[in-house]
Amino acid sequence: MTTTQTRSPSVTSAIRLTVNDSEHEITLDNRTSLLDALRDHLGLTGSKKGCDHGQCGACTVLLDGRRVNACLVLAVAAQGRRITTIEGLAEGDGPEGLHPVQRAFVERDAFQCGYCTPGQICSAVGVIEEARAGWPSAVTPPGATPGHLDENEVRERMSGNLCRCGAYANIVPAVLDAAATATPGLETGSHETPVTTPSTIEPEKPAEPEENR
Ligand code: FES
Ligand code: FES
Repeated sequence: MTTTQTRSPSVTSAIRLTVNDSEHEITLDNRTSLLDALRDHLGLTGSKKGCDHGQCGACTVLLDGRRVNACLVLAVAAQGRRITTIEGLAEGDGPEGLHPVQRAFVERDAFQCGYCTPGQICSAVGVIEEARAGWPSAVTPPGATPGHLDENEVRERMSGNLCRCGAYANIVPAVLDAAATATPGLETGSHETPVTTPSTIEPEKPAEPEENR
């Protein structure tokens, strides 16, 4: 007996997306993810596709100011909402126009390959706003003062964003720097990690010859 597989015909919708303050009208298969709509239909390739399963955070964008994994959101569901991608965070050209989180990532050298960086930065913008609004995380002690961000909080809140190259050590202080400088009313915990940019890294001393040991 042979089985014939039939595919249901795709159903499309004409939708209007507001991305980085610009309006776009596009017709999409209803099953298109927001990530694919941004990358493949609008040419906004800053948001990266890592796992396409909600596990890596590379695709993080802001939806009405709250972070989401764009690979898990249908584009049709984002209609009428304010979408901000990494391309929309800076407010002008040049280093001065960078968003405070972007600037902190540069100053702290908080990235290496850049694949996870757009998602890390969008996520950090969401994290700082969540903390400022007093939303607790899994590590917030019961009864803690709302609006506090420290290293533990940053690690927990950023745990959905994976980095394969080990830039985590600098990401945490970068997020705390941005939170401290750009968010009035948000109390930030101290962090002891010094700024380590390429210009401040001490060259390694050559190994001593064996006969001198
Ligand atoms: S690509 Fe969306 S979470 Fe990995
Ligand atoms: S800097 Fe994040 S994956 Fe490389």
